[in-house]
Amino acid sequence: MGKRVTGSAGTGARQAGEGAAVDAAAEASAEMEGLAAEIARHDALYHRHDAPEISDAAYDALRLRLAELEAEFPGLVRPDSPSANVGAPPAEGFGKVRHAVPMLSLANAFTDEDVQEFVDRIVRFLNLDAADLALTAEPKIDGLSISLRYERGVLVTAATRGDGAEGENVTANVRTIRDIPARLIGDDVPGLIDVRGEIFISHDDFAALNAAQAASGEKTFANPRNAAAGSLRQLDPSITAARPLRFFAYAWGEASALAAETQFGMIEAYRRWGLPTNPDTRLCRSVEDLLAFYRNLGERRASLGYDIDGVVYKVDRLADQLRLGFVSRSPRWAIAHKFPAEQATTILEAIEIQVGRTGSLTPVAKLKPVTVGGVVVSNATLHNEDEIARKDIRVGDTVVVQRAGDVIPQVVRVIDDKRPPGAMPFVFPRQCPVCGSPAERGGDGATAEEDPGHAGDVVRRCTGGLVCPAQAKERLKHFVSRNAFDIEGLGDERIELFYAEGRIMRPGDIFTLAARDARSSKRLADQKGFGKRSAEKLFDAIEARRTISLQRFLYALGIRHVGETTSRDLAATYRTWPAVRAAIEGAVAARPGPDWQRFMALPGVGEKTAEAAIGKIAEQGSKLVTGGLFAEPLETRLEAAGVPAKAAKSIADVFRGNASDAVDAATRAGRQRPGEAFLELVTAPGVGEVSAAALIEFFSREENARAVAELEAQLTIEAFEPVQTVASAVTGKTVVFTGTLEKLSRNEAKAQAERLGAKVASSVSKKTDYVIAGADAGSKLDKAKELGVEVLTEDAWLAMIG
Ligand code: IVH
Repeated sequence: MGKRVTGSAGTGARQAGEGAAVDAAAEASAEMEGLAAEIARHDALYHRHDAPEISDAAYDALRLRLAELEAEFPGLVRPDSPSANVGAPPAEGFGKVRHAVPMLSLANAFTDEDVQEFVDRIVRFLNLDAADLALTAEPKIDGLSISLRYERGVLVTAATRGDGAEGENVTANVRTIRDIPARLIGDDVPGLIDVRGEIFISHDDFAALNAAQAASGEKTFANPRNAAAGSLRQLDPSITAARPLRFFAYAWGEASALAAETQFGMIEAYRRWGLPTNPDTRLCRSVEDLLAFYRNLGERRASLGYDIDGVVYKVDRLADQLRLGFVSRSPRWAIAHKFPAEQATTILEAIEIQVGRTGSLTPVAKLKPVTVGGVVVSNATLHNEDEIARKDIRVGDTVVVQRAGDVIPQVVRVIDDKRPPGAMPFVFPRQCPVCGSPAERGGDGATAEEDPGHAGDVVRRCTGGLVCPAQAKERLKHFVSRNAFDIEGLGDERIELFYAEGRIMRPGDIFTLAARDARSSKRLADQKGFGKRSAEKLFDAIEARRTISLQRFLYALGIRHVGETTSRDLAATYRTWPAVRAAIEGAVAARPGPDWQRFMALPGVGEKTAEAAIGKIAEQGSKLVTGGLFAEPLETRLEAAGVPAKAAKSIADVFRGNASDAVDAATRAGRQRPGEAFLELVTAPGVGEVSAAALIEFFSREENARAVAELEAQLTIEAFEPVQTVASAVTGKTVVFTGTLEKLSRNEAKAQAERLGAKVASSVSKKTDYVIAGADAGSKLDKAKELGVEVLTEDAWLAMIG
């Protein structure tokens, strides 16, 4: 066997006439079949029996021979070919693959208490006895996740996670990974299964790869994860083939059947079928078991030979996993228990101020480069001005830097006795370093939850708005980003370039780019880094986004406190862009005035009390200033006027005891009540005071209103299409659960009702359609009876929803 059909065989066969060509093909076909069987046999020996019969080199030779034949006879390539797809790589990046079942992420636990809470939640949700608890524990591998589609046991597609819904088609590359079998073997391999797991590189292989890269003058990788990702995302599969990628299977997506009833059973099935699984997978029966596994693995972490960043716990029974379901993007039945962050010490060389999309001034530590947990770190976040003051961080200090997973490294603390003499406290700028506008700390009352890291007053913001080039550019970057307009070929770098050139200054400019370019003497196609094709591709990509969904449009505007969820809520409530705009414009016109807001913001005073106080003060008017009590402190006079003591004190403080200021303000406030349209926006589902204030602030700025109008003229904004919940007898009905349910936990019952299109309310009103009453139902049941709302038993409810 050998040389006959390689090299010039194609031409030779043609010259020798058709008969010879057919012979050569038949011979090649037979050889390819033999090779495929041989490779499959060695794969099985290697993966399933841990008993390889031949050396890696001999095995590689078999694969290489098959690859040669496949190159020669592309028509004979078998769908289950274990070899690389040596055909031409896709010209432009990778194709897209939609995941039949989305690839989710995991919620994190950091402490033992977090783990306890996770388990408690499951026990409650499932109504479990402690004795029935079973969870698997396994290492959380720091690689990249992959979905492998096997049809009738044959690997047909491999896709990266991507955004979870859609990934990149890396099938040709994955076929070169020896750990990943081209064919699954076993009686119980289902007709279809998306096997999911992690691709990674071991420590030894990583070191060798980097040494080789360095020796050949190529760039080295920061860590094994990056090396694995870089190796997988190669347009030329032969490069991937040369990289030592490994794989562990630990989950699945779509499947026509499952080979076991438990997570652990599935992992055992994977192993039988020839998929590599992590030998450190354990079945645990209590929180103590889980934590013991976590500690033990933590101790062995350095000797495992590959990077892990924690432990993953999963509910073992698959039926329970199904019942538990998902919360937003992660399953309720699994959690990642992370290892503590890694730290290192280095010198803070400078503090730079970055200006964000909403004008936030973020201090960034410029560090003398240092390796933290395998990654070279030269920047770290300092969060905000208060944080710098609290930790007394000064330029020149020796600082402790910490990195945890993919999050931005942080400066943890200063090592005091290493402070150089003369190091001065850092003075945070009062002006935007980019545009020079005043930078202010606002008090819009956002809590840490609403806007993590931007709570209350801690963030100083540039007041320049779109006048500030930094804000304008960041807004543009956000506008074209993946979850917004998602314009391919218009990434951060090009936004920077186009902004600097004046081609794109505001979002609306994106959609006039092609038309202006056609008339321009400086055509984009002639610019450095472009060309006719790439310019055209960009124009096409922009054109493709001229029609946009309402929620994406709203999100793309980049308004503070208006993220994807709020955008979706706004879209769902108002349905069309004109309706959203009218609601916001109405709210802008009907917004309360500054004096009203001043009273509403009185520390320690509720809004009702504040409103009553405004009335009382305005009513007393000049009597408060000159009346009989006027020698008394303002606080006493206010109390005498009927203002409750706490409010009286607060008002006296805010107005510094000046009665006529307080009276004037209250009189004005009385005329500055919020109007109907304002209240409507604030109370719209999912909006709330913080987002409403941000929307109003945004749209009441001239430059923003103009930018939006420019966009409107260019776009078709599609009306909101509600997502299809499963139509059922209860779609559109409002239901209330009360009392103790037997068959389902309360949360489960709610989640199920919502999936079926019902609205689950927490209190009974005339609008309630059904009250589902379990054992010991109390006041809600009484209320239902009083209002004549239909009451159902749990069984009746279950029968109703089928
Ligand atoms: S299970 C539905 N198990 O962690 C959840 N994930 O934060 C499926 N990962 O994207 C994931 N090791 O890339 C699971 N043993 C393991 C894992 C693991 C690493 C990664 C995976 C996932 C991410 C979630």
